[in-house]
Amino acid sequence: VPSGIFKILDLSGNDNNNKENSLEFSLVLPTYNEAENIQNIIKILSNLLDKVAPNNYELIVVDDDSPDHTWQVALQLTSNYPHLRVMRRIREKGLSTAVIRGWQAAKGEILGVIDADLQHPPEVLLKLLQDMKSGADLAVASRHVEGGGVSEWSVARRFLSRGAQMLGLMLLPEVIGRLSDPMSGYFMVRRKSIIDKALNPVGYKILIEVTARGKINWLSERGYVFRERQIGESKVTWKQYIQYLQHLVRLRLSLSTRFFQFCLVGLGGMIVDMGILYMLSDNNTLGLPLTRSKIVAAELAIINNFIWNDFWTFRDITYLQPGKRLRIRRFVKFNIICLTGLTLNIFLLNLFFNTFNFNRYFANFFAIIGVTLWNFWFNLKLSWR
Ligand code: GDD
Ligand code: MN
Repeated sequence: VPSGIFKILDLSGNDNNNKENSLEFSLVLPTYNEAENIQNIIKILSNLLDKVAPNNYELIVVDDDSPDHTWQVALQLTSNYPHLRVMRRIREKGLSTAVIRGWQAAKGEILGVIDADLQHPPEVLLKLLQDMKSGADLAVASRHVEGGGVSEWSVARRFLSRGAQMLGLMLLPEVIGRLSDPMSGYFMVRRKSIIDKALNPVGYKILIEVTARGKINWLSERGYVFRERQIGESKVTWKQYIQYLQHLVRLRLSLSTRFFQFCLVGLGGMIVDMGILYMLSDNNTLGLPLTRSKIVAAELAIINNFIWNDFWTFRDITYLQPGKRLRIRRFVKFNIICLTGLTLNIFLLNLFFNTFNFNRYFANFFAIIGVTLWNFWFNLKLSWR
């Protein structure tokens, strides 16, 4: 596994007997110098969850070896709160990785995160949990939907927050556009949606990573008011803004690199197709009938493209989904999608040429662009999901 990439365990796998130990819900509380808040929030959360998920939840404090000994305070609480677990990290630091480390140790089918400083109102948990039980893959507490807001923020701070969101929207529209509050650090995600996904977060914004790389069909949002901090202080500095930018750029590159690789493979496939067509049908070579030759050429090109895509374009996904059977399944899907794409190609060519009166090469050019997008999108969503 490449460094910096995190994998979430599949509890239902047959290679481990964790199933009977699994829980409905695991909630991670990342902490850094929250010794004065931790008892209060653990008490409130335990009371809430004892009612809605009795004996079926856990609270996981992930502390980065805080100088104020938050981990120690939390550890002392475990005698009164049997569903509380504490993780003290010595070497690794940072909010996003803390959350993921917590989830890696978690037993819940639903994985959640909440700040430990009481700025996130605990009651909203119940609504988020309700959405998850109704089938949401991701339930986010948002400041920018009905019932949401911020308490006493200055104009400058609101501006900065919205500016960061706009920037995200420009760089990563397909991800940020799905979230009314991409900066939220209060949400739940289904374990099933992120197992087998290579999570590679930086900085503070773990929600963006989960939305970008997870398999999220149903996303729900619930309003919440971001409270003022009563005790302790925020850990956000200018460094987090730099990391946010770095995270956006990294995601953009990784999502577009994939598309670029896919196009390159497609170009290679065209050469294979042409070469085979020449070898089979040309009068100087075998001189077989054109249609029959083309069918063989196209199928060999599809096989060629599949191999490249499976071992290269989507390798970050396939190394987490090994085995011959899964590979064959991906191949069948890829084949069907590409053949459907071929039909679409012919349809678009005719549409542009006959209906819109494009020059035939322009018509073909746009038809190819359309089909490439079609093939990429559907293979991303179906073959290498
Ligand atoms: N383990 C660990 N490691 N925890 C951390 C670290 C870290 O490096 N940095 C911060 N935390 C913990 C804090 O102790 C707190 O429980 C929580 O993460 C949030 O940190 P704050 O420093 O209080 O952040 P904030 O209040 O400015 O921002 C919060 O609200 C945002 C909404 O604008 C965060 O929750 C953001 O994620 C959220 O989007
Ligand atoms: Mn805070």
